[in-house]
Amino acid sequence: MQLTDPKGRMHQIVLQPGASFHTHRGALSHDDLIGAPEGSVVTATSGTQYVALRPLLADFTLAMKRGATIVYPKDAAQILAYADVFPGARVLEAGAGSGALSCWLLRAVGPDGEVVSFEARADFAEIARENVRKYFGEVPSWWRLVTAPLSARAALDPSFRTDRAYSLRKDAALDRVEDAVPTDPVPAPTADVFGPVANVKDWELVSADNRS
Ligand SMILES: C[S@@+](CC[C@H](N)C(=O)[O-])C[C@H]1O[C@@H](n2cnc3c(N)ncnc32)[C@H](O)[C@@H]1O
Repeated sequence: MQLTDPKGRMHQIVLQPGASFHTHRGALSHDDLIGAPEGSVVTATSGTQYVALRPLLADFTLAMKRGATIVYPKDAAQILAYADVFPGARVLEAGAGSGALSCWLLRAVGPDGEVVSFEARADFAEIARENVRKYFGEVPSWWRLVTAPLSARAALDPSFRTDRAYSLRKDAALDRVEDAVPTDPVPAPTADVFGPVANVKDWELVSADNRS
């Protein structure tokens, strides 16, 4: 739930029976909000009023825990538009980072689509997984998070994109990558180790960022 005060300051809370939300402007009982309609106005003990709404995905991604820096909502909107991400699309994301773009992609493709997100760093992948789980309530069944570096060859070489190879090898290829989960230290992305993942047809490269 997102609480906005008269000055536009926003706070996101997860409602729990019996819990309270405290700021220097007093306390609010979660019980006053549980079951109340969206848009309700609640009053803290100080008299400050808050309007209570579900956070927009844009608000959620800005407030959520970060590992890597996130793709900001204005950029996510451009990515969804220019990559032409539609319900049912299958999308390959390079660099799940904190999971912000993953949330946008997962919502855009919906349960009839599929998003495979690679993340080179195990600690970031865990943050991404937790953020996505929090936003959707559970980890979406149409998301696969692979904790491994995606090779540029796999992502970009068009000669690896064949329907037949994908249908034959999709699971084997991705499972092989998961088996190769890097621990500490994170290995640099390599050109060859994850070659089989390239047997992916129709995937759209949405984000490849090797700068982190
Ligand atoms: C800018 S962050 C991505 C932010 C993310 N899209 C979000 O919105 O939260 C870039 C991420 O790419 C990861 N990364 C860099 N090279 C990679 C590669 N070859 N394969 C997988 N992940 C990679 C980094 O570890 C970092 O977490």
